[in-house]
Amino acid sequence: MQTVDSLNRLGTETAFEVLARANALAAQGHSMINLGIGQPDFPTPPHIVEAGIKALRDGHHGYTPANGIPELREAVAAELESRAGRPLDPDRVLIVPGGKVTMFFAITAFGEPGAEIIYPNPSFPIYESLINYTGAKPVPLMLKEEDGFGFKAEDILSLITEQTRLIVLNSPANPTGGVVAPEEIERLAEGLEQHPQVAVLCDEIYSRILYGDHKHASLLAYPSLSERIILLDGWSKTYAMTGWRLGYSYWPESLVAKMTRLAVNSYSCVNAAAQHAGLAALTGPQDEVERMRQAFDQRRKAIVSGLNRIEGISCVEPGGAFYAFPNISATGYTAKQLEEGLLEQAGVAAIAGTSFGANGEGFLRLSYANSLENIERALERIENYLAEPRTSRSASA
Ligand SMILES: Cc1ncc(COP(=O)(O)O)c(C=O)c1O
Repeated sequence: MQTVDSLNRLGTETAFEVLARANALAAQGHSMINLGIGQPDFPTPPHIVEAGIKALRDGHHGYTPANGIPELREAVAAELESRAGRPLDPDRVLIVPGGKVTMFFAITAFGEPGAEIIYPNPSFPIYESLINYTGAKPVPLMLKEEDGFGFKAEDILSLITEQTRLIVLNSPANPTGGVVAPEEIERLAEGLEQHPQVAVLCDEIYSRILYGDHKHASLLAYPSLSERIILLDGWSKTYAMTGWRLGYSYWPESLVAKMTRLAVNSYSCVNAAAQHAGLAALTGPQDEVERMRQAFDQRRKAIVSGLNRIEGISCVEPGGAFYAFPNISATGYTAKQLEEGLLEQAGVAAIAGTSFGANGEGFLRLSYANSLENIERALERIENYLAEPRTSRSASA
């Protein structure tokens, strides 16, 4: 049987593999604290769940329009207006089964052999995977610890060539929690005026999970770029709805029909009841979103100060999302060795920085979407693990 070669170039998301291994170890009776997978540990707020149930009871059992139900697209346009600072067109909104689908559509729309796509490194592994899948050349934008893992406009602009078709941006970022300063977004918007052939995929899935003085700035706020910006967001992280598989995107006018056609060719439309739940999420009370954000903030402070107390580890303060990305290079372990050692011997699931790109060597991603108590226990386990002499273990490490 011969399949296409591009399939062999697809990468994966290690977080799912670590989750499976952590669950298997827990099923064998091992005590396991999961700081691996990136999803809120809270349930979906009850009024959203009720709206989904009501939609089923009310008979929303059939197909919906491929681009999403009109009232949901209107609610998304209204939601994005505060980010854009101007009225937006609901007909440019596409409701998709999860934020990842926007990524797939955007990268496959621009990637092909000979094209270059700029993406942050380290970053969500699916960007690089999809760029490789299309045959385009992945051009890494190296994120630096000393910049708090935010990027400077100049760093991106200097990577643009005649072949650049797409730039992928993510702020607040996975896996680093880095947030890009609004003035850099402004500089980038100005610089992009010189490169009219380049589109930008703005992955803003963590835009409402921000801490301290950090502010979210979006390229969507620049009308002159409007025909080149693809905005990715959704319900998964903000409303603790990862399992509902629901996301939204805002597209250049010239791409809406093509992307809707991709939807028709792949999944027809998004689950109807989930769309009604998503509508309740956007139009209903937002207090649960704030409550979750505050809980994440408390845990963020606990994990960062706890990590910085451990010998060999240092951690910059993440400005958004729910990930800490400590530097572990002084421990003497590679990222993968420490991931394996912590998982198999210390009972802590965390992800090697290299799962997010080669530039993640020397770092570990810890998701703090877990209780304060578990975070404290995990920190203790990490500290004890590192305190043991390596030679005394039968470690794979
Ligand atoms: C940066 C980033 N973008 C997109 C997604 C995908 O979100 P969804 O679960 O809605 O597909 C994730 C999920 O972890 C993410 O971290």
